[in-house]
Amino acid sequence: MAEDLHIIQGDKKTQYETLIPQIQGLLSGETNLVANLANIAAALKEQFNWFWVGFYCVIEDELVLGPFQGPVACTRIKKGRGVCGTCWEREATVMVDDVEKFPGHIACSSLSKSEIVVPFFKDGKVVGVLDVDSSELSQFDAIDQIYLEKIVALIC
Ligand code: SME
Repeated sequence: MAEDLHIIQGDKKTQYETLIPQIQGLLSGETNLVANLANIAAALKEQFNWFWVGFYCVIEDELVLGPFQGPVACTRIKKGRGVCGTCWEREATVMVDDVEKFPGHIACSSLSKSEIVVPFFKDGKVVGVLDVDSSELSQFDAIDQIYLEKIVALIC
């Protein structure tokens, strides 16, 4: 797999559909979780240029910061706390149009305005979450949810 990503313009669905096979290529033959999470975060950042994109992994009773692209972030989040901890608790994607209106939102940066957090699973258990933050309000919709869920399904 060439390490250059083919970045395209166009509608969001087309962008995801062009990106996903490239992510599959990046992951194929690599079994190391950190390496794969790092490349997924980089690929998503390169294609969409969101404010922050990265992973938190379940380690014992907390989410711990994993590979990401963007400004420095908080390192540990308890189950049920913030958008990430809520996603872990619900075992389902959480989309937030305006983070200031989400009770308990953990503000790693005041520039973050909207957020989507998608869980990923191994043997039926949440083992981590993909967290994406935007500097725009209401950045994410059902298309992002569908495609980000497809992307995290490639992880484990
Ligand atoms: N906003 C998240 C915390 C992680 S940062 O956005 C990178 C939350 O409320 O869980």
